Amino acid sequence: MTSYIHGYVPEEQERLLDQAGVLAPLIYPAIDFHGCKHILEIGSGVGAQTQVLLSLFRDMKITCVDAVESQIEKAKSNLSGNDSRLSFLVQDARNLDLPRKFDGAFLCWVLEHIPNPQLVLESLIKSLQPGAKIWITEVFNSSFYFQPALSGLTNYYEKYNSFHKSLDGDPDIGAKLGNMLSKAGFKEITLSHGGFHLSQHDPESLNKIIKYWKGLMKSGAAAMISSNWITEEEVNAMEKDLDQIASDENAVFYYQFVQANATVF
Ligand SMILES: C[S@@+](CC[C@H](N)C(=O)[O-])C[C@H]1O[C@@H](n2cnc3c(N)ncnc32)[C@H](O)[C@@H]1O
Repeated sequence: MTSYIHGYVPEEQERLLDQAGVLAPLIYPAIDFHGCKHILEIGSGVGAQTQVLLSLFRDMKITCVDAVESQIEKAKSNLSGNDSRLSFLVQDARNLDLPRKFDGAFLCWVLEHIPNPQLVLESLIKSLQPGAKIWITEVFNSSFYFQPALSGLTNYYEKYNSFHKSLDGDPDIGAKLGNMLSKAGFKEITLSHGGFHLSQHDPESLNKIIKYWKGLMKSGAAAMISSNWITEEEVNAMEKDLDQIASDENAVFYYQFVQANATVF
């Protein structure tokens, strides 16, 4: 594993659970695994999305795959009680070695972190049956727009994305999913967008998402500080600007992720 912008500390493992809860109403209306009996979740982390999938698709089994053993161990404890529906594997998703074929696959916030993510889709399609459905949700960080324009947040966001790229991640991978799926041999590809367009017309949602966004931004801070990409002062300036946006009468907070759906023939 190369280094990873969010890290694997317990606070980050908790953040993934909070994130899944906050974003579930935005992510899951589109996801449709009806008819699927056993899917793969690639980059399942601590099981935050797995929990939602288990509750939405009650007859479905899930095999969770993550490259990092401590994530899988945390997922096992977070998801205990669902043992008959779950199995866990520690594997690099670019080189899957699976005991069977599956009728679905789910990926959320993972391809963005993997150098050469095309290999994941090429490896994955070999483990999917004809008719299998894949759902991917990914970042498109260039879509972020906010008002008022504040330099602390702009500076931090630019460095956050540059740092992500320096680790061979791709903060705009969502925009590329159509080409990637097509090259890997998936068919019936559809792309859609989800996210938020907030302002003071809905202050409760604005505050909730800005709080979430602060946690997301801060999750990169430790790695960025220790690699001398950013200082504590720059982190504080980013947080201060987010607070200012939340209370600004002309606040705008806009972001779009990408969801891709495809089928195996
Ligand atoms: C941001 S977390 C997302 C976890 C989960 N999908 C969620 O939304 O809560 C990304 C996960 O991808 C895993 N990961 C990174 N590179 C991987 C690889 N090459 N193969 C499999 N998993 C990988 C990381 O260990 C981490 O758990």
